Amino acid sequence: MEELLKQLEAYRAEINASTATDPKAVEEFRIKWLGTKGLVKSVMGEMKNVPADQKKAFGQLLNDFKVLAENKFEALKETAGTPESASGSIDLSLPADEMPLGSRHPINLMRNRIVSIFQRLGFAVAEGPEIEDDWHNFTALNLPEHHPARDMQDTFYVQQNPDWLLRTHTSNVQIREMEKGKLPIRGIFPGRVYRNETVSARSHCFFHQVEGLYIDENVSFADLKQTLYFFVKEMYGKDVRVRFRPSYFPFTEPSAEMDVSCFICGGSGCNICKKTGWVEILGCGMVHPNVLQNCNIDPNKYTGFAFGMGIERPAMLKYGINDIRLFSENDIRFLKQFTAAI
Ligand code: DAH
Repeated sequence: MEELLKQLEAYRAEINASTATDPKAVEEFRIKWLGTKGLVKSVMGEMKNVPADQKKAFGQLLNDFKVLAENKFEALKETAGTPESASGSIDLSLPADEMPLGSRHPINLMRNRIVSIFQRLGFAVAEGPEIEDDWHNFTALNLPEHHPARDMQDTFYVQQNPDWLLRTHTSNVQIREMEKGKLPIRGIFPGRVYRNETVSARSHCFFHQVEGLYIDENVSFADLKQTLYFFVKEMYGKDVRVRFRPSYFPFTEPSAEMDVSCFICGGSGCNICKKTGWVEILGCGMVHPNVLQNCNIDPNKYTGFAFGMGIERPAMLKYGINDIRLFSENDIRFLKQFTAAI
């Protein structure tokens, strides 16, 4: 008994003298005295050796000893702080870790830029499906089966049902909007398209387009030109020059392609414009009467224009991106460089 009392006294002195300046030392104190194999537990275990008549008094002593260790632990925690593991809780008053802020994808930045210009002209945004049927992607657009122009675009077909395919252009949305039967239509249709092309720095098997469609009575080629002039000036600046070249698309007649004076070299000739001074930016034309008819619109009453442009190329030119694959690799180091507000 004597020995135990002496031991207890020494322990009390040691506890009283303990200091801890950091959470690690506090944790060491806890393990040494209050842990499952700690000294408080082991002294408690001595109770069984205490003669019955002294048990009560001794119990009291041991209990006081335990309280001393616990109180000291609380006091040390207070001054030195506690690691989470020791307290089993999180200090909610600490400032939180910084939240990494995302940024807009450059394709979305460019799409929003294009779309917002047409929205200011009263064009409404609509979208269509990426898995499309032959009718909406080809046939209704005046490309019947075996039409040679179908070879212009290498199509991914759905194996289970060859009537389904991944749309090769956003022109399918033209058909879907016209089929709704609500006229006039003034729409702008952004989206992703797919073509079976070898992936390289310049081309990918999926990319993005923006389609435009305007159907009403008395819509003329002059309206088409005026709309696209406005777009180009807003997009590339007041000084940019524009030219239309006659072209062919099955769904428009007449058809044209529009070039803008190279916004890199200003028209004097550089690598981007292949020394021509011009950069091709879109295809357009007056909606073919067959297409209107396919959508139950009377071509004698209504006319319209349509246009379609890619998003990747203008985005690459604007942001100085030299490899189209970067857009879809999800490399944070690439993506975080685009912080523009739109
Ligand atoms: N669909 C064409 C393409 O993918 C682009 C296009 C050209 C769309 C002329 C049009 C248009 O609406 O009138 O290359």
